[in-house]
Amino acid sequence: MYTSRMKELIRKVEETRPVRLGVDFPRMTPEERQDVLEKFHPDFIEAGFRQLQAGVNKGDRVSRELADLLEARSMIGHVELDLQEIVHDVDVLVVGGGGAGAAAALTAKKQGADTLLVTKLRFGDANTMMAQGGIQAADKANDSPAIHYLDVMGGGHFTNLPQLVYTLVKDAPMIIKWLEDMGTMFDKEEDGTMITIHGGGTSRKRMHAARDYTGAEIMRTLRDETRNQGINVLEFCPAVELLLDEEGKAAGAVLYNLETEQYLIARAKTIILTTGGSGRLHFQGFPTTNHYGATADGLVMGYRAGAKLAFMDTIQYHPTGAAYPPQILGLLVTEKVRGLGATPLNINGEQFIYHLETRDVESAAIIRECSERKLGITTPTGMVGVWLDCPLIDLIHGEGTIERQLPAMLRQFARFGVDIRKEPMLIYPTLHYQNGGLLLDEWGRTNIENLYVAGENSGGVHGRNRLMGNSLLDILVFGCRAGLHAAQKCEEVKLSKLTLDHVHRYHQQLQESGIDTAGRVSPLLLPRYSHREALEI
Ligand code: FUM
Repeated sequence: MYTSRMKELIRKVEETRPVRLGVDFPRMTPEERQDVLEKFHPDFIEAGFRQLQAGVNKGDRVSRELADLLEARSMIGHVELDLQEIVHDVDVLVVGGGGAGAAAALTAKKQGADTLLVTKLRFGDANTMMAQGGIQAADKANDSPAIHYLDVMGGGHFTNLPQLVYTLVKDAPMIIKWLEDMGTMFDKEEDGTMITIHGGGTSRKRMHAARDYTGAEIMRTLRDETRNQGINVLEFCPAVELLLDEEGKAAGAVLYNLETEQYLIARAKTIILTTGGSGRLHFQGFPTTNHYGATADGLVMGYRAGAKLAFMDTIQYHPTGAAYPPQILGLLVTEKVRGLGATPLNINGEQFIYHLETRDVESAAIIRECSERKLGITTPTGMVGVWLDCPLIDLIHGEGTIERQLPAMLRQFARFGVDIRKEPMLIYPTLHYQNGGLLLDEWGRTNIENLYVAGENSGGVHGRNRLMGNSLLDILVFGCRAGLHAAQKCEEVKLSKLTLDHVHRYHQQLQESGIDTAGRVSPLLLPRYSHREALEI
């Protein structure tokens, strides 16, 4: 429910609406985009970053919160472990229970590999489940993977690794078909044609969606299929450290049963890390759209084992996080809302940016409107945001569109007395996605033999900025590829003795670099929110 002061301000939005309807706000020039990014995007706030002092990426600029976790002591540093007491012995070990993990496990199993999937929380507790707006694929007559490729590269400021982008867009139509064949229910016209819309930075309408809960629908399908295929899944059992063999090849992981608090040794011929993102580190104090377990665990384990990171100085802030009511602060307002025509407005009801600029530019412009220009709207708790004029959607596409296309958004705001068919939402950028991660190649391989990555804990596909709908795509393209390659690789893998020497060596490096690790232990596993916990670290 908006306050009377906010309702007064909403009148300005209503007054300017007829004039704005049907008029496209001009897009920024490349110079304007660069200018707003450099002045207002959090990636350019130097205080938010520091250089790594140890490990394979020594000297690289990384978010402070992540650097502190990477340069921490292992949580098994003081635990007595018998590495020969092997509890799980499999071909392929998949670490992470989101979309990338499920895709990897399904593909590995299809190749005949004995596959185990371990996950920190429940299977499906992942950012995949929370993805709303859609998945990109160039499968319409006016589109092509080549056009998709150019959009992805442009969105990433041409920093993306070309071979990975080529792979992403080429496999995309096949992934949509794979999902459909498994039962994912995408939005369709009455004649069965897929409904596709624009996202920020797309030059063709190629966003396939299941209303505004696309990720949940995809995860439902993948989870059902994983169960149907009889894949062994261990829930509440995160990996906390990788195991290497005596030749330095990945050979398993130390698991930690969160219920019994026991450590378990899992040996595997190949390991696929799919642990997702790091939004729960709340970089620079931002709220997040991420699920509770997004604490960078895969990055920490991979880095300690010597896997290289890429693009770790770039984080994605989604332009439209909820800024009001406070109960849903930072939760995602899907880009589909802007894809359907909603526009951002300042306190005077004026549009200040084209509504479908790429996410980094759109976010920076909103931050500028609220900070330098002081044209944001302040809520009773002191949060500042701008309007997102969603009632435009029904005016553009016809009454009932919001109800049909955005049922989750409608419910999310209705719970707090805001009717988004009639009133704008109040929004502000929120921490959404880790653009970088462990460097991969087109088969998900890292620089450590037998170690693969896929999904949000990998880096290189999106360069310095991801476009909407390319994450659900990325997790499936590279999840499937990693699963396939890891399963085939098993045939030639001969394991020698399991070791944790890399952890001891890393501890030694930390010490030699004079890094003060007092109170710092990783992986974090769960975010630390309470004062008491904060004091204990
Ligand atoms: O806005 C969204 O629905 C988010 C999609 C994405 O990050 O790909």
